Amino acid sequence: MKDEISIKGLAHMDTAHDSAAKHVTGRAEYTDDLAEPQGLLHAYLGLSKCAHGRITAMDLEAVRAAPGVIDVLTAADLPGVNDVSPAGHHDDPILAEQEVKFWGQPVFAVVAETRDQARRAAALAKISYEPLLQALDPMGAKAAGMDYVTDPLTLRRGDAAQGLAAAPRRIKGRFGIGGQDHFYLEGQIAMAVPGEDEDVTINVSTQHPSEVQHMVAHVLGVQSHSVVVNVRRMGGGFGGKETQMNLFACVAAVAAKKWNRAVKIRPDRDDDMSATGKRHDFVVDYEVGFDDQGRILAVDGDWYARCGFSADLSGPVTDRALFHADNAYYYPDVRVSSHPMRTNTVSNTAFRGFGGPQGVIVAERMIEEIAYALGRDPLEIRKANLYQNGQLTPYHQEVTDQILPQMFAELEASSDYQARRQAVLDWNAKGGVIRKGIALTPVKFGISFTATWYNQAGSLIHIYSDGSIALNHGGTEMGQGLNTKVAQVVAEAFQCDLSRVKITKTTTEKVPNTSATAASSGTDLNGMAALDAAEQIKTRLVDFVAERWQAPKDQVRFVPGHIMAGETAIPFDEVIKAAYMARIHLSAAGFYKTPKIHWDRSTGRGRPFYYFAYGAAVAEVSVDTLTGEYVIDRADVLHDVGRSLNPIIDKGQVEGAFVQGTGWLTCEELWWSEKGELKTHAPSTYKIPLASDRPRVFNVKLADWSENTERSIKRSKAVGEPPFMLGISVFEAINMAVASVADYREPARLDAPATPERVLMGIRRLQG
Ligand code: MTE
Ligand code: MOS
Repeated sequence: MKDEISIKGLAHMDTAHDSAAKHVTGRAEYTDDLAEPQGLLHAYLGLSKCAHGRITAMDLEAVRAAPGVIDVLTAADLPGVNDVSPAGHHDDPILAEQEVKFWGQPVFAVVAETRDQARRAAALAKISYEPLLQALDPMGAKAAGMDYVTDPLTLRRGDAAQGLAAAPRRIKGRFGIGGQDHFYLEGQIAMAVPGEDEDVTINVSTQHPSEVQHMVAHVLGVQSHSVVVNVRRMGGGFGGKETQMNLFACVAAVAAKKWNRAVKIRPDRDDDMSATGKRHDFVVDYEVGFDDQGRILAVDGDWYARCGFSADLSGPVTDRALFHADNAYYYPDVRVSSHPMRTNTVSNTAFRGFGGPQGVIVAERMIEEIAYALGRDPLEIRKANLYQNGQLTPYHQEVTDQILPQMFAELEASSDYQARRQAVLDWNAKGGVIRKGIALTPVKFGISFTATWYNQAGSLIHIYSDGSIALNHGGTEMGQGLNTKVAQVVAEAFQCDLSRVKITKTTTEKVPNTSATAASSGTDLNGMAALDAAEQIKTRLVDFVAERWQAPKDQVRFVPGHIMAGETAIPFDEVIKAAYMARIHLSAAGFYKTPKIHWDRSTGRGRPFYYFAYGAAVAEVSVDTLTGEYVIDRADVLHDVGRSLNPIIDKGQVEGAFVQGTGWLTCEELWWSEKGELKTHAPSTYKIPLASDRPRVFNVKLADWSENTERSIKRSKAVGEPPFMLGISVFEAINMAVASVADYREPARLDAPATPERVLMGIRRLQG
């Protein structure tokens, strides 16, 4: 093993994703690629065909009699509790009992010799329902007097009512914001392998192995130490595997223990999309008061969310919408409230941004309202309202790290915003069929889990006697490059080549009590925990080297490939071999918890976020006013990741997030029938952005001058979610193009997503 020389700043260098070549050559192992144990069985779920109803009869005889079928599992066959609710609400049955609460809810599972046999058999069930009162969308649920699925939240500072009353100008509006399917390329999947006594091992595509472990233990009625959960990687998670795979893991585990054979479960895409939660759609009522200069004086708003039949993560998701209702702007007087509505639809869940995007986009809508009312460029209104350091957010956290003025200046210049906006106005003034729009929008995103105890992480490092390093941490790899970044941190700590550091699968056996890899905090938390473990081993090595090679401790240093004892350079392998012979402990468990954060939900005050990540984007679009179709002509992104741990991986995250954010606001539309059946449950009816939908010109840059002002891992910042919200620039540019047909007398006020149909309807409305 040879170490290369340029390791010094490895933790800030471009390094390809550790699995990049394997991803594109099909050699990366996903859960479905694992070698299958002998005698493997396959489970398949039977889903309800009723949005809300009492089960009056369930005839599963034909299912049981179908070829290859071993048996059927119903709620009565679960040995422990029939619940996978993540937040302690006890409202998420694995299999429905007397009542079904959404169309697509799992009612039974059939277990057969092959997946095809199980899938065909599941379709043979005959279930009758007595329909009950149903509400499908948030406003319908409100009208029907449905209860909240979880406690609502209000954030307030100052007096919004008084602020509005005193404001020279006021605008009120309602904004419908659609949901989104995760469309991870690898769907939900779990394979359970029974062991001796109560043991079971689950290989599962999950962002949250520890939660799967606890859920499976509860459902089996055993202790957590009997359950091992493994995940090498996911083919995308995006929040859709934070809680939604628990059910699949539990079904596989129950069946595996019942028949003492390994059991795999993998729904097809239609069932995956029908039975698993998505991004929350919202209806938001807002009112903003402002002055003639466009300064915001007061904001009042209500966020109604379609949560689905159970709480799942709707509490923290709707909270985060409120935490981002200000986006980057100071509201002198503010009151914002969440309304987590219970509906007879699938239970909505985490999705990149975790409610934040549905807050941010409302702030941007209000900016647009003000700009159109005053006949100004929305960018001027944005600048007039940006936070200044020292101002308080609606949750009373002081903003101390504002960098958006500098980012705006840089992006405005690099994208040639002013000249291009003038060109767009001139083009539209000609009154042609193709209209253009341009918009520059920012994001300010709070980093940390708002559940403070989640902000902890563990790691485990072993150095073997040949000098090779095995690294494990509690985070999971879903394509975002977490493992690569954490390995860089460890390799830099030891000043050894990256190839020495082996990234091993995430497993509850090595690092316990982990948090979900979510809230963009994977690298922040696990990078620090890994560094802690590395530092512990380094301290022992320094003591050992100082003694063995007779040098003062402060003259023992790690340099590329070597450890220096004064002027003597000893190769890393040699030190490790000698340390082993001298019985030095070459393994360490690391730990990290985020400092400074606290949050009191009952008073709506605290410092829920360790820091903010910032970004801005300019998008330019062309809209065909006869068809409502559009193209993104150009997008320029400037994003803040502090001191990047890996610029190419971070840029990849920014690009992917921007495109996914654009998909949310343009082509991805969820549509339910009146009976509550999700009709957009496959790529044939649900359109994600294609390569051909990308911006024709796409300039993505990291703000390379930025540094985290807090002591984060190597002064970097989280990147996974924040740039998702830069897709809002495309949405606003489309709105501008539409507004041009009525000379910008009023904003287009399109609901999201701005599908071509909705764009066309917006144009027709403005044309009168
Ligand atoms: N990138 C890829 N390629 N695949 C994913 O599933 N998930 C996103 C983001 N980037 C995701 C992704 C979401 S929702 C989050 S919270 C973060 O990655 C999680 O990883 P991190 O905390 O390590 O950034
Ligand atoms: Mo990301 S929604 O926090 O998994």
